[in-house]
Amino acid sequence: MLKIMFVFGTRPEAIKMAPLVLESLKQKDKFKVKVVITGQHKEMLDEVLKIFKIVPDYDLKIMKKEQTIIDISISILEKMDKIIKKEKPEIIFVHGDTSTALNTAMVSFYNKIKVAHIEAGLRSYNMYSPFPEEMNRKLISSLTTYHFAPTENNKQNLLKENIKENVFVTGNTVIDALFSVIKENYVFESEILNNIDFKNKNIILLTCHRRENLGERMKDIFESLLEIIHQNKDIEIIFPMHKNPKIREIVNKVIGCQKQIHLIEPLGYVSFVNLMKKVKLILTDSGGIQEEAPALGKPVFVLRTETERSEALEAGTIKLIGVKKNNIINEVEEILKDKKKYNLMSQAKNPYGVGDSSKKILKIIDKIKER
Ligand code: UD1
Ligand code: UDP
Repeated sequence: MLKIMFVFGTRPEAIKMAPLVLESLKQKDKFKVKVVITGQHKEMLDEVLKIFKIVPDYDLKIMKKEQTIIDISISILEKMDKIIKKEKPEIIFVHGDTSTALNTAMVSFYNKIKVAHIEAGLRSYNMYSPFPEEMNRKLISSLTTYHFAPTENNKQNLLKENIKENVFVTGNTVIDALFSVIKENYVFESEILNNIDFKNKNIILLTCHRRENLGERMKDIFESLLEIIHQNKDIEIIFPMHKNPKIREIVNKVIGCQKQIHLIEPLGYVSFVNLMKKVKLILTDSGGIQEEAPALGKPVFVLRTETERSEALEAGTIKLIGVKKNNIINEVEEILKDKKKYNLMSQAKNPYGVGDSSKKILKIIDKIKER
């Protein structure tokens, strides 16, 4: 039996680690599993754990209102060290590029425990965007023994950095999660969403939370949306707002109360992906949504100047529209009018796998054990 430990702390990590945790728990003869949540997020994380029925062995409960990267790092370094020393796992799984992932990888290294990195090899090649995620994932790669790259592009990025051993292309576990919760004829719990006219209106789904977009950029994004709805009475925007109070401050200042913009609390994961399926277009600065939406045939306009999801760009399922007002307005109005362009984007092929990534990853880990 291999003693493995999964560590995660934010909503997207939980969504993408859940299929892997559940699959490893099923394989009782092969793996002895411990789940640790740092609690970098609270409400947004608890909701995902509930959906996937995951009960963590440890909860570090580190979240503070308006926490800094330093706050998160100090708490995780101290608390994870104690848990790792007590549990002595053979391999620790971290995901992606968050502060939870980097600090856990560091503690693992200091304890000479091997790190398995899920969603390895993503690169934007701009160390300040996304910030701090681009540097986090580079540093995690240096601390990792087993690199699970979602795509061939991601593997190539690692090879360029001379990381050649134990690099495996497995697809992205986000597709495993997505296919496990997507439903036909989904009915929302929220009356606001059930009352939206998805058939006759152009409904846009918006999410916006990146640290580097906070401030003027986010203000510009919201102002461009105001102009879009004022010019186009057939457009409505649904905006499930991230819990970060800094974002809500800007929303209150710039958007306020608008009939065509539905400002709502973060949605549960099941509601959110089923909402993605119903809307016409997605505007986002999120990473995970750039991977999910293509599997649902929805065009994604990315509110950033670069992306680490280069394969989605190549496939034509996402488009970088940046953060400049005029550009956002022109791009949104154009795609909603130009059917040919819209169809090209919505019919492009999802490059992130078929939903079997967790099984692939565990099979590889199991084989490694035999070496
Ligand atoms: C973090 C990750 C980012 C990821 C994002 C997903 C880092 C450095 N950043 O950024 O890569 O894209 O999560 O959403 O790891 N809050 C709550 N309740 C919650 C969650 C957050 O109140 O359930 C509030 C808190 O006030 C918290 C703030 O949001 O201080 C920011 O959370 P934090 O994890 O520091 O940053 P994110 O922007 O969420
Ligand atoms: N998501 C959700 N509810 C929401 C918004 C997003 O469940 O209201 C899910 C979404 O389906 C995706 C993940 O959260 O799987 C993306 O998280 P986020 O955008 O916060 O982080 P990122 O992917 O940018 O790191």
